[in-house]
Amino acid sequence: MNSDPHQTLPASLDPQDWQELRGQGHRMLDDMIDYLAGIRERPVWQPIPQSARNAFQADLPQHPGSLVDAHDTFMHDILPYAVGNSHPGFMGWVHGGGNPVGMLAEMLAAGLNANLGGRNQIPVDVERQVVQWVRTILGFPEQASGLFVTGTSIANLIALWVARVGALGTDVRNEGVAAHGRSLVAYTSAGAHGCIAQAMDLAGFGTEALRVIPMNAAFEIDIEILKRTIAQDRAAGLQPFFIAATAGSVDVGAIDPLQAIADLAASEKLWFHVDGAYGALGMLAPDIAGRLRGIERADSVAFDFHKWGQVPYDAGFILVRDGELHRRTFASPASYLRREARGLAGGSPWPCDFGPDLSRGFRALKAWFTIQVHGAEKLGQVIAGTCALAQAMKQRIEASQELELLAPVALNIVCFRYRGPAGMDVAEVDRLNAELAVAVQESGVAAPSTTLVGGRLAIRAAIVNHRTGKDDVDALIDTCLALGKTIFSIPAPSGHGSST
Ligand SMILES: Cc1ncc(COP(=O)(O)O)c(C=O)c1O
Repeated sequence: MNSDPHQTLPASLDPQDWQELRGQGHRMLDDMIDYLAGIRERPVWQPIPQSARNAFQADLPQHPGSLVDAHDTFMHDILPYAVGNSHPGFMGWVHGGGNPVGMLAEMLAAGLNANLGGRNQIPVDVERQVVQWVRTILGFPEQASGLFVTGTSIANLIALWVARVGALGTDVRNEGVAAHGRSLVAYTSAGAHGCIAQAMDLAGFGTEALRVIPMNAAFEIDIEILKRTIAQDRAAGLQPFFIAATAGSVDVGAIDPLQAIADLAASEKLWFHVDGAYGALGMLAPDIAGRLRGIERADSVAFDFHKWGQVPYDAGFILVRDGELHRRTFASPASYLRREARGLAGGSPWPCDFGPDLSRGFRALKAWFTIQVHGAEKLGQVIAGTCALAQAMKQRIEASQELELLAPVALNIVCFRYRGPAGMDVAEVDRLNAELAVAVQESGVAAPSTTLVGGRLAIRAAIVNHRTGKDDVDALIDTCLALGKTIFSIPAPSGHGSST
């Protein structure tokens, strides 16, 4: 429908001609559908030309530009130079691939422009619906509370804040941690993600109050050392209060022994938190769920829908067993946020009572659409499929003379390296493997990342994306073999090795 231009206020940002916007909007939607439908024809990632960077060095625009031109800039200078995690060949870090249904839902959410801080609106019910589904997936009781957040880093921090109030009472919110004069200490594995230590810093405990427990040969937390460390800390007059287990470690995909940690936390009266950034949703896959047993006993679980859940970024989530404690950690009455039994200010408690964000987008909608349209079973099949592909990759590595595995493959992450020729300095082998990973990325065929495993540089493939298939795994290995042959035939320059 065309609207009367005279009805549009001069300063309004709505278009003069809605029909024109509709046509342009359809073209933009078509471009994104074409992008996803044709993603296999593109390089996973490509080096970025200076011209694309220059497009974003412009002066502040004072006057109206054209939507058509802005869209052109997007197509030419943004879209081709993104990280490429929607591509089936992308296996770097732990990036999810998103899905078209989630993309469309994100458009609807942006159109609605809902603020999910609270108030009496169905978008909040949609978030509560997803919270209910998460309780079901993770085996949590009705009293458990949940909240969408940006990602697991923040979800872990929220868990720590709730545990802090659990240990010290709500007075800590006024008085601060220092006022309580007790030295709270927390525990995690050497394989934990760095955001656990960062959460200790941000929550005011300091990273020195985090005991980093060594791992066993399977890269899981060593439970005996954990027990001993807790006992030593108690003997030294400290107050152990929090264990952060990991379900799917960032480097190698190990799962800490959740049942044993749950038992220990129960007997020691410690908060049992699970960082299940990508691993927690393994509960959707029957084959993997058994290995996550014990997660249902956690006091809190942090995870991301944007990883194994295939929901477009960002869609982190925190689930807390004691919903009332969760609310008491954050609820901050304010006259301008007064609640009513009816009207727009009804529907208390609000999501803003469970986290630090007051203004919040409608992340729940893309998660709701993704689960509603694809169903939990299919998402579980996707997750199981990524683990099967990791096993296939492991077999290819084991069958090759040139490559070697650097860690067990527990889930969907494979760490390996190109063997250096006999006698090559270990630092040089590390340096050339780092170069190999970059060369594979620059080839556009696949995109692994790197990490250190046992102090040695590993090429790391995390298979997260529902689009990734056996051909993509083979392409990564074939490219590593082909490029590795050239890179490792270069005579090692003496004295230039560095293990990064
Ligand atoms: C085990 C683990 N914890 C935490 C994180 C951080 O999650 P996010 O990037 O969503 O904050 C990651 C990211 O890969 C992870 O693998």
